[in-house]
Amino acid sequence: MPKQEFPFPMPNGWFCVSRSDEIKAGELKNIKFCENDVAAFRTESGIAAVLDAYCGYSGINIALCGEVIEEALYCSKTGIKWSTDGSCIDIDDDSLTPESAKDIKIFNYPVVEMNGFIWAWHHLLKEKPYFELPMLDGFNGDNEKWGKVYHYEYKINTVLQEIAENDVDQAHFPKVHGSPSLPETEAIVDGIYRKTIAETLMDPNNDSVSEEFKVEDQGMFTTTFTRESWGLGCVGLHMVNLPPSGGEFIMVNASCPVDNKNSILRWSMRVSKDIEDELGMAIIDGIANGVLDDMPIWDNKSYVANPILCDGDGPINKFRKWVSQFYSEVPDTA
Ligand SMILES: [Fe+2]
Repeated sequence: MPKQEFPFPMPNGWFCVSRSDEIKAGELKNIKFCENDVAAFRTESGIAAVLDAYCGYSGINIALCGEVIEEALYCSKTGIKWSTDGSCIDIDDDSLTPESAKDIKIFNYPVVEMNGFIWAWHHLLKEKPYFELPMLDGFNGDNEKWGKVYHYEYKINTVLQEIAENDVDQAHFPKVHGSPSLPETEAIVDGIYRKTIAETLMDPNNDSVSEEFKVEDQGMFTTTFTRESWGLGCVGLHMVNLPPSGGEFIMVNASCPVDNKNSILRWSMRVSKDIEDELGMAIIDGIANGVLDDMPIWDNKSYVANPILCDGDGPINKFRKWVSQFYSEVPDTA
């Protein structure tokens, strides 16, 4: 049987372009985002913007040839200054570019910045955002309760749907991760929002935890693990009742579809200060390493359109039904 490639187009929703602190004021980056080349930059006053990388006048890649000057993206090849909304705001006097270039607009992606990340809205048919992302507790300057933030970034050789499906694939936790099976929970679904709450057995000494972070005198414990998704791009995770003092763990999973074979996951994690020096790192490191077990599987996986499941309408099929709302029909351009 030949390998079946993932059959859907780029999904619609808010996706992560970059960590906020990785595009500083005046900085410009050339980024692959949902199969498109984009110019992601931050103006000198601090506004983050994402434009299509190709200049509508010359076709030049302004993510590579441009530079941020004050509040604009300037292309020295054409002498055009592009505003954050993609309109042409100025053309150099000595440039050969005609004045009519002022009518050209480059597509600008709607952008929001929160939870430590820059997010851009992707819609296959260029429709406007129809939902908002939430400000997640602990990732917007509220530092009093929380310890250090740990960042991780993973380049994954598959699409976001396959990665997210992993969370509803109960059977793989003991087999792939050597971790206790998570009890199946009913997802609470409300449009683009999806939430699961699971009483989860955790082991701070499991194989995913690096030797230096293991906590030998702490046995297995149960925590309430809440996972909330806003579309396919943003997931917030929260664990409570962590030993020894009832501490908490929080995490943002900010995802970016690069193209139909590659994705980038950016994770930020932190625990409450009361357990930071106890088993905080065992939890963070164990989760950060756990995904490494999945990666070789994703590298080589074929898409199965109609998986045979023990329960005919099991969580994978329910999950696929929820995800289906994020795909537009591919426009027929033939
Ligand atoms: Fe997994």
